[in-house]
Amino acid sequence: MAESQSQEDPTTQVEAASKAFEQEFERFARFTGQPAAVQGLTLDQAESEQRGLAELRTRHLGKKSALANCKKSIGRVAPEERAAFGQLVQSREAEIVSALEQAETELKVHIQSARTERESIDVTLPGRRPRRGHLHPITLLREQLEDTFVALGYAIEDDREIETDFYNFDALNIPPNHPARASQDTFYTTDGLALRSQTSTVQIHAMQRRGAPVRMIAPGRVFRRDTPDPTHNPMFFQVEGLCVDRGITMAHLKGTVGELLRRMFGSKTVTRFRPSYFPFTEPSAEFDFSCFKCGGSGCRICKNSGWIELGGSGMVHPNVLRAAGVNPEEFSGFAFGFGIDRMVGLMYELDDIRLLFENDARFLEQFE
Ligand code: DAH
Repeated sequence: MAESQSQEDPTTQVEAASKAFEQEFERFARFTGQPAAVQGLTLDQAESEQRGLAELRTRHLGKKSALANCKKSIGRVAPEERAAFGQLVQSREAEIVSALEQAETELKVHIQSARTERESIDVTLPGRRPRRGHLHPITLLREQLEDTFVALGYAIEDDREIETDFYNFDALNIPPNHPARASQDTFYTTDGLALRSQTSTVQIHAMQRRGAPVRMIAPGRVFRRDTPDPTHNPMFFQVEGLCVDRGITMAHLKGTVGELLRRMFGSKTVTRFRPSYFPFTEPSAEFDFSCFKCGGSGCRICKNSGWIELGGSGMVHPNVLRAAGVNPEEFSGFAFGFGIDRMVGLMYELDDIRLLFENDARFLEQFE
């Protein structure tokens, strides 16, 4: 084909080159003199058109283009036709250059302004506010309890969650085969350690570490082999209290628990102690407080009794003092314990205590 072309009349060749350009340029022609056509392009589209145009330029004006061949053939044209032929080549080339330049300029201007627009920032836009988290309702109540007891002169103890049988049972006056071990069945590791089933274990650690007198509370996780239901979870939170000193009596226990409940539920709150049994206290009592919702007249929260049961308490058993190295002839003390999540459940009227452990932000967000 190259051969047949070179044998063609040079003028025909120039016109053919010019025609070929025009055909290919047709799709770019709309960018010249039609601002709307360029402005309708996205930045990506305009950049791709720009590349297409650059290829077109190489194909039709480059060293290997048909037009470049025509230029080379000027010298071979008969002398009397040479000037006219030369002018023809030049004028066709000028047309091509001018068409390309126009389209190139239009695209370039559009691309520049589109880039500027993409990179510009609206400095007047308000910033995006990061979503702030907040403390879990159990943590909020734990901190409130801690503040209350610190104000009463108590230390806060944080102790281990994995225990030996000694701290979980024996030292708390629960010997092997004692029925209390069954009701507090927990999770055991393969080497005989147990997840603590009550924070009462910290009583022993605290007395061993601090000796007597001692006043402390120990909030923390405890574990039991319970099937989860609306009022039970195999992991939950308790707070333990211990006060050991010379001459401590049941009156101190009642005064302290009464003060705590008034601070938590209001100054009109009444406390009630019912005789009970715990291996680590003698005598033992469970304590209730007058319903914070109805004030004692009876409602859904207190199951119409006017009272809400909260926890256990009593005078520390001499065996427990002895196990922790404290002399029961010299010292006496009281202890108490109750569930923090149970208290949260009461305060917020939760139907299901497990909601506290599911980490569903839609639920937790309500306690900010
Ligand atoms: N540890 C008991 C429980 O988990 C609660 C308790 C009762 C703690 C009496 C005490 C206490 O310190 O004196 O049910």
